Amino acid sequence: MHRSETALGLLWPILDNLSTAVLAFDKELRLLFINPAGENLLAMSRKQAEGLLLNTLMPQATALTEKLKDVLKQGHMFTEYQTTLFINATRTIAVDYTVTPFGQSADEQYLLLELTDIDRHAQITREEHRLSQYEISREIVRGLAHEIKNPLGGLRGAAQLLETELPDPALKEYTDVIISEADRLQNLLNRMLGPNTLPHKEDINIHQVLEHVRTLVLAEAGDSLIIKRDYDPSIPMLHVDADQMVQVILNITRNAAQALEGKGTITFATRADRYITIGGKRHKLALRLEIRDDGPGIPADMVEKIFYPMVSMSANGSGLGLAIAQSLLHQHGGAVECSSEPKNTIFSITLPLTTGGDQT
Ligand SMILES: Nc1ncnc2c1ncn2[C@@H]1O[C@H](COP(=O)(O)OP(=O)(O)OP(=O)(O)O)[C@@H](O)[C@H]1O
Ligand SMILES: [Mg+2]
Repeated sequence: MHRSETALGLLWPILDNLSTAVLAFDKELRLLFINPAGENLLAMSRKQAEGLLLNTLMPQATALTEKLKDVLKQGHMFTEYQTTLFINATRTIAVDYTVTPFGQSADEQYLLLELTDIDRHAQITREEHRLSQYEISREIVRGLAHEIKNPLGGLRGAAQLLETELPDPALKEYTDVIISEADRLQNLLNRMLGPNTLPHKEDINIHQVLEHVRTLVLAEAGDSLIIKRDYDPSIPMLHVDADQMVQVILNITRNAAQALEGKGTITFATRADRYITIGGKRHKLALRLEIRDDGPGIPADMVEKIFYPMVSMSANGSGLGLAIAQSLLHQHGGAVECSSEPKNTIFSITLPLTTGGDQT
């Protein structure tokens, strides 16, 4: 008795947290129930969807409708792998699905439809692979930076000693070059090594961070740059390291300002997203922050490469800005993606939000 009550209580959270879309229909093929993964898949809320007939929900899914009718007639479950589901005139998705009939009697027949979005799965696998590639390359760069740092300190120290022993003060010009170039390299190496302190996480308002970066970038860029805000004020506090978040957003925004050569529009847009998978982990609620610009864009063959360290297309760039941004986001359980076409480049950051139970 006790056990079944517990089991029943668990049922709703289980359905809510499944990554598989679950839909239940009556024998007229009217939707009785849809879980959040189903809402995501159909891009429709439970309120909009429940009570609708299957052919209203997915007007183009005629093959699926026929299958459901078949299952009702035969009373046997049915599974189809890797099939294309036509949701409506503009949306098709690749899915695996299973239809299971259930019910007490011939009058009370119901159907359970489980759908797995295989495109989304393949995309997550590809993303994980790419992330591990970025991580490996960052480790190589860090290892190299470490190796160079010590002898460089020695070189600089020796140049300083030499400077004090020079017979002719005019020769100081040369030791100055050694010292200043060593300092420049040292700065580069420090950037390559990344922050050496643990993140100090606190509750922050993302919009305050954005406003801070906005002020900095506008001060650097001058009057011809516009930074628009499209903020969702209802977004809860983020639990992150504030300085590191400033660095992430600054690195991305500075790139946009550089691409625009100081002339154009950047937009900061924030949204709360439900049921998001980041790096293979599912979160009930996540922040989506888009940093868009209407600059020339990034060539298609470069979009994935720009997150690697030392990849730069600018004359005086070190190619570390995005690698650092990605690594910092990673440490916060977040991610960043880029999509680009001329006049519309979007860097999209996702970060888990602490409220809503976090990982499931
Ligand atoms: N919004 C953008 N529009 C066009 N190109 C971009 C944009 N953002 C990044 N890029 C390209 O990606 C490259 C890599 O950026 P990243 O910030 O990693 O390095 P960088 O800006 O060259 O150097 P650093 O940031 O270390 O000074 C840039 O050189 C630039 O060519
Ligand atoms: Mg940069």
